[in-house]
Amino acid sequence: MARFARIIGTGAALPERVVTNVELARELAKRGIETSDEWIVTRTGIRQRYLAEPGLTTTALGARAARAALADAGCDAASIDLLVVATSTPDQIFPSTACLIQAQLGAVGSAAFDVQAVCSGFVYGLAVADAMMRGGGYRRALVIGAEIFSRILDWNDRTTCVLFGDGAGAVVLEAAERPGVLAARLHADGTQAQILCTGGRVEGGRVTGDPFLRMDGQAVFKLAVNVLDSSAQEVLADAGLTAQQVDWLIPHQANVRILNATAKRLGVPPQRLVVTVDRHGNTSAASVPLALDVARRDGRIRPGHNVLLQGVGGGFTWGSVLVRF
Ligand code: ACO
Repeated sequence: MARFARIIGTGAALPERVVTNVELARELAKRGIETSDEWIVTRTGIRQRYLAEPGLTTTALGARAARAALADAGCDAASIDLLVVATSTPDQIFPSTACLIQAQLGAVGSAAFDVQAVCSGFVYGLAVADAMMRGGGYRRALVIGAEIFSRILDWNDRTTCVLFGDGAGAVVLEAAERPGVLAARLHADGTQAQILCTGGRVEGGRVTGDPFLRMDGQAVFKLAVNVLDSSAQEVLADAGLTAQQVDWLIPHQANVRILNATAKRLGVPPQRLVVTVDRHGNTSAASVPLALDVARRDGRIRPGHNVLLQGVGGGFTWGSVLVRF
């Protein structure tokens, strides 16, 4: 059995269409919805987001990110024996997006399943894959976060529709004798389900209930900052490291104010915080692997660095994974 799971490649995929705050405000104004670049930037740090064109699927975005990660790792899709996809915006109820991506990649025969933990999904998927590789004998895994949140947004609700974007990110993990994932902790509090949810369902051939994302922004904000801090402390303690030894902090990219508050509480200097929410918006389960890919490719994350990946989102769910590169 392998002692560790190492990240050996990362990849990302974004839709072609970039929508700036100014463009979005102009579009929303046509519906009588008032917002501004200034409001969005001040409250969230978001300047633009990528939005999927009609016809683009979560499967296609996820497969593109996976191919980029495989190329980065120098691996063939056929060598993958475990494929985990984190998404809350699957293309269909079943089969899982993981199975659909597996077919596109040609990784037939691998284990393949989806993880549903909303914005914590990638961190959940990474923790699950790590455990299966250390305890279950899997040798090479793909963990993908892929979302098209724009399709579950209520474009008449300015308190939510300005916040999210579409995209996908992926990592290739390999069984190894040196770290690797150092520690992982996951949590949830289902009593807080209502503060961030999409309550609709398909029943009797129709969508019943509310098919749009709804959020109590202030409740989410308060919970997010607290749980990001507590779960960071847990993985640091598990790994025997201090916050000063974290080279890069990559929390879920929901809001720059949550990111800054998290770094400050942990005592991680702002220059070691990776921020991509300004260009991607909140891409839910895709946000952490997208940010990770950006920071690896621009040379910030180097071999030996300790990187703290953190998720928080609907459920309410949260968790941290501490990784050495
Ligand atoms: N444009 C202009 N005005 C707006 C907009 C908008 N897009 N949205 C809301 N407003 C108005 C409100 O109507 C309100 O007006 P009022 O005072 O006349 O009633 C005013 O702005 C303030 O609204 P608040 O909701 O109090 O604004 P707040 O400062 O809390 O910011 C925000 C809202 C950005 C959502 C904030 O609560 C937040 O960041 N929450 C964290 C939630 C988050 O990031 N969620 C992402 C998904 S969850 C996750 O990924 C973990």
